[in-house]
Amino acid sequence: MAQVNDIGIDLGTSQVLIYKKGRGIVLREPAVVAVDRDNNKILAVGSDAYRLIGRTPGNIQAVRPLRNGTILDFSLTQAMLHGFTRLAIGRHILARPRAVISVPTGVSETEKRAIISIMFDAGVRKTQLLDRPIAAALGIGLHFQEAYGNMIVDMGAGATDIAVLSMGDVVVASCVPLGGDAFDDAIIRYLRKKHNLLVGERTAENIKIDLGSAVQPAEPIEMEVTGRNLVSGLPKSQMISSLEIYEALHDTVGDLIEALEAVIERTPPQLTSDIFEEGIVLSGGAAQLSGLADAIYQVLDIPCGVADDPQTSIVMGCGQALEDTAAMREYLSDGRHHWSR
Ligand SMILES: Nc1ncnc2c1ncn2[C@@H]1O[C@H](COP(=O)(O)OP(=O)(O)O)[C@@H](O)[C@H]1O
Ligand SMILES: [Mg+2]
Repeated sequence: MAQVNDIGIDLGTSQVLIYKKGRGIVLREPAVVAVDRDNNKILAVGSDAYRLIGRTPGNIQAVRPLRNGTILDFSLTQAMLHGFTRLAIGRHILARPRAVISVPTGVSETEKRAIISIMFDAGVRKTQLLDRPIAAALGIGLHFQEAYGNMIVDMGAGATDIAVLSMGDVVVASCVPLGGDAFDDAIIRYLRKKHNLLVGERTAENIKIDLGSAVQPAEPIEMEVTGRNLVSGLPKSQMISSLEIYEALHDTVGDLIEALEAVIERTPPQLTSDIFEEGIVLSGGAAQLSGLADAIYQVLDIPCGVADDPQTSIVMGCGQALEDTAAMREYLSDGRHHWSR
């Protein structure tokens, strides 16, 4: 039963998901590490890291080791990935499992090789890499093996991968450092400028999820937001409307649509017409911004839809590559060569 422990990993900038062969998704944890800044010791990873914050004395900080689609701190990424892998496969492994991992597009070749060695130390016999757009397409069930153009856009927290796939390969691709975090930052800037209200990243994220919209809301809703008055430094509450958050996000949404347009411009014409017909598929957590698919349709005149359960597309694609190794062989790489693009 050597294959029972095989795992598929989506190493995202905000979440890590692990799929176990024959079982489905077994781990879903925030990509966070708790570090004691007094001695740089790593205390916990994932949701345990969040639980530590504020409960333990000392200078403990929650750090996201990945940002903007790349690795910001390698040793923290190593600790986190090691911890999650051990959680998923257990300590007492009879046969060393195999892993398929999808890493952010901005990760360098050297870092990819380092990730494979981290996995080896965590007990994995063989690790193979799966390109993010291919993983997302597999997870969603796009038929990208045919001579037909498919456009897939995966929006994570730190970055968005845009790709045109055809005949089982990536034809055009681009990765822009623009995702859910950029929406949160836009909300922070807007509230600061318009209301002298300073809010943290997590508040901004909640506002985005509850009030955010990429298209002008027909019936605006309001919510009370608490932050700090920039002038007095005192706590301040303010009613904020979804119309204001639409305004706050407008330019960032525009930048994203421009990035999609740039990829379409680089796509061979015969594939472009397929995309105009079949549409664009969005996946990733940040694609859940209300009205995003409509906003894209309004500007580009291309039908656009969000995948079901968009935050799991990539890990499900890694899982599929595990379940059907023979058919998926051509998509997997061992990190020793650059196989696509
Ligand atoms: N309902 C929602 N509406 C808008 N954004 C959302 C929603 N749910 C999650 N997000 C955003 O999705 C992003 C995380 O997506 P995810 O695919 O998990 O990221 P990554 O692949 O980078 O780990 C975050 O920026 C988060 O705020
Ligand atoms: Mg993701």
